Amino acid sequence: MKRIHLPDQRPQNGPRPVNGSHTANGALRARHRAAARPVAIVAGGAGFLGSHLCTRLIEDGYRVHAVDDFDTGLADNLDHLAGHPDFVLMDHDIRRPLPRISGVTEVYNLACPASPPHYQDQPIRTATTSVVGTLNLLELAHDLGARFLMTSTSEIYGDPEVHPQPESYRGCVNTTGPRACYDEGKRMAESLCYDFVRQYQTDVRVARVFNTYGPRMRLDDGRIVSNFVAQALTGRKLTIYGTGRQTRSFCYVDDLIEGLVRLMRVNPRPEGPVNIGNPEEYSIIDMAHLIGRLTGREISLTHDPLPADDPRRRRPDITLARRLLGWQPTVPLRKGLAATIAWFAGQIDAGGVMPSSASPVAPSSAAASPDRGAAAGGVALGLAAPERRA
Ligand SMILES: NC(=O)c1ccc[n+]([C@@H]2O[C@H](COP(=O)([O-])OP(=O)(O)OC[C@H]3O[C@@H](n4cnc5c(N)ncnc54)[C@H](O)[C@@H]3O)[C@@H](O)[C@H]2O)c1
Repeated sequence: MKRIHLPDQRPQNGPRPVNGSHTANGALRARHRAAARPVAIVAGGAGFLGSHLCTRLIEDGYRVHAVDDFDTGLADNLDHLAGHPDFVLMDHDIRRPLPRISGVTEVYNLACPASPPHYQDQPIRTATTSVVGTLNLLELAHDLGARFLMTSTSEIYGDPEVHPQPESYRGCVNTTGPRACYDEGKRMAESLCYDFVRQYQTDVRVARVFNTYGPRMRLDDGRIVSNFVAQALTGRKLTIYGTGRQTRSFCYVDDLIEGLVRLMRVNPRPEGPVNIGNPEEYSIIDMAHLIGRLTGREISLTHDPLPADDPRRRRPDITLARRLLGWQPTVPLRKGLAATIAWFAGQIDAGGVMPSSASPVAPSSAAASPDRGAAAGGVALGLAAPERRA
């Protein structure tokens, strides 16, 4: 694995120009490369989902350039690709323009903290990563004539009045709350994506990702599955907010990655965003008991008041993904959880960073949703200072 450090690299003349004159050249280059080997940039490649995507693309014969500033990502997540001749890891903050990497055919943008404690820890950083970072990556994709895939989120639906949530639902989001840095950042990123389609005919695809779990989630991630598993394995009480009858859906990481890859490759380009998530609904309390059974531990629950704006239900309508991508989740919850529990057990045995006992996200600011695990899972696990791994 080649590792390149690009802390302050900027193009000599500032950001790359984006104008209509690039469109024809970009399209020509893309056609010229059509038969050549695919090359992908994966921004956020050292994160939970990004590291799985890098692995999948390498397995598919791609050359992969992972770009990450290790804000929440861990270099360890990519250890298995170390030394691979087709894999390059770049230490770079996408809020700065990227160097022009020739031959790139696909740009995946997964760079953004996804767990509430992490994204609320530095809200301006979160917002600018989604807005400025996405703009930089869109400019690069446009300049290179590459396809661009944005990982948006179910959070753009906010506290939904429509259930399940189809892509046509426009959402119910508080623009000034503590979650807005993430929700509104992603909404602006989606807007930018379709501005590039309208203005420059850039080949853009947007995935609205619903709650995903699996190996390589951080122990201090702060979302439902990681919180419950970490608590159960370490003999702590699982905290349920409210009655625990609120429901959520959980997608295993392998299914999610398959959905992203299909969305990037499908022709023609879908006109709008596509939900990628698992439509099976489980109550939080059932999930807690299931994790207890699968860990083989006696668990006990403790109840806290329901956070403000806590969605009662969250479930993707994946009709579009089924029709356009021929995609639907295939990994049963028990199987996915078993793999996840094994991963967490290994991390704990290895002395991984455990969450502290105090939650950094006040209940009122952590309204439950797929990305808002702390409240969604009803688990009052706190956040250890995010590790910075370079
Ligand atoms: N995991 C989920 O359940 C879920 C749900 C909805 C949406 N998503 C989206 O999927 C993407 C990946 O999520 P994840 O769960 O893997 O999160 P993650 O925090 O594990 O990964 C994000 C990665 O982006 C990197 N990053 C953050 N800011 C950066 C910057 N400015 N420059 C370069 N790198 C930066 C982090 O270091 C990390 O490696 C995110 O965009 C997230 O919003 C995830």
